[in-house]
Amino acid sequence: MEIIIQPTAEAATKIAARLMARTIREKPAAVLGLATGGTMEPLYRELVAMKLDWSKLTTFNLDEYIGISPMHPQSYHSFMCEKLFSKVNINIGNVHIPDGLAKDVPAACAHYEEKISAAGGIDLQLLGIGTDGHIGFNEPTSSLASRTRIKTLTPQTRKDNARYFERAGEVPFHVITMGIGTILESRHCALLAFGKNKARAMAEAVEGPITSMNPASALQLHPKVTVFLDEEAAVELKMKDYYRWVFEQKPDWQKV
Ligand code: PGA
Repeated sequence: MEIIIQPTAEAATKIAARLMARTIREKPAAVLGLATGGTMEPLYRELVAMKLDWSKLTTFNLDEYIGISPMHPQSYHSFMCEKLFSKVNINIGNVHIPDGLAKDVPAACAHYEEKISAAGGIDLQLLGIGTDGHIGFNEPTSSLASRTRIKTLTPQTRKDNARYFERAGEVPFHVITMGIGTILESRHCALLAFGKNKARAMAEAVEGPITSMNPASALQLHPKVTVFLDEEAAVELKMKDYYRWVFEQKPDWQKV
């Protein structure tokens, strides 16, 4: 795992945007795994400002709420349209987000997995992390081999996400999320985490044992993960000085 610690979230976001831009320039028909949440908003603003060519890219989003329409202002369909897709030249036919209104959820999940495979797999998967260590909406005790499926949110995640809804009670209980096994098959994962409320989850994910109690810790099994942190999110990392030192010593060809 490569851990990049920057003084601010803005600085870390800029480097993450450069990594994404490089992927897009090197492989114009790349398959991107996209994420939602407050952490991603500044990243999408950076990417929009870079005026990249999205016309040949294919995207798969990690997750979506079950039971709210794609038109609902808090659906992840709406989030993606508003923050990114309406502002870049993406071919909307190449955009994939789980269907939160699917009548047959298991069939829709299996179909989502098939579409990822048919597209050739995900080249670069963006990830946020929940305060409980979830990636996608894989809450603690999710199988580390899980595939796209229905999950029930923890009360904490519903509380964390209530800020986006008019009333806390409106936050759905269920979601469709790519599984941890699905995420681990992507060729490169980029995880972004900022702020002190992510510090514990990040320390467990990077330096703790691999455990379903912190789903992000499964990324230790992945051969290529880049983690972008600000100082606050890095505060509980025991080896943070080493990670800084590694970043400073990077040979030119490895720099983003
Ligand atoms: P956030 O959510 O970016 O809004 O903090 C991250 C997540 O829950 O994965």
